[in-house]
Amino acid sequence: MTMFYLLIILMFFIQSVVSQNANDKLIACCAHDPQIDPGCAAKYCNFPNINQFMVLPFIAECGPKGNTVSRVWDCISSKHDHTQCCTNQNVLPLCRAFCNASKAVPTDMLKYGFCTSEFDKYRLCFRTHLKHHNAIRQ
Ligand SMILES: *[C@@H]1O[C@H](CO)[C@@H](O)[C@H](O)[C@H]1NC(C)=O
Repeated sequence: MTMFYLLIILMFFIQSVVSQNANDKLIACCAHDPQIDPGCAAKYCNFPNINQFMVLPFIAECGPKGNTVSRVWDCISSKHDHTQCCTNQNVLPLCRAFCNASKAVPTDMLKYGFCTSEFDKYRLCFRTHLKHHNAIRQ
């Protein structure tokens, strides 16, 4: 029984180390990009801190700061095609447009604004990818 609990604790420990790494890569990717506003980087380049309700505030706050929004998106998404992961996560077909980050994503908020509700699925896919790959910038 004790062994079982130790195993659970160990699994949580390993899990937190692994996700720490993905988040560290994201933080470094943003911090090392001179085109990303440092205030926006500190607030939004952080997987545990961001969720669907922060997408619009992020765009409102960081949109006026040069290329910050698209460069943060590049760091988070790794410019990778996450379509397969999104399909596995049951992302709504229309909203899968944001999963293929190897190309430009839609900017039509009227048509795609509701896709922010899928944000936690995007985040899972992007984070899992970063666990196993280098960020686009170290
Ligand atoms: C993602 O975009 C790239 C570049 O446009 C394209 O080659 C690829 O087929 C796309 N992936 C899917 C699943 O549509």
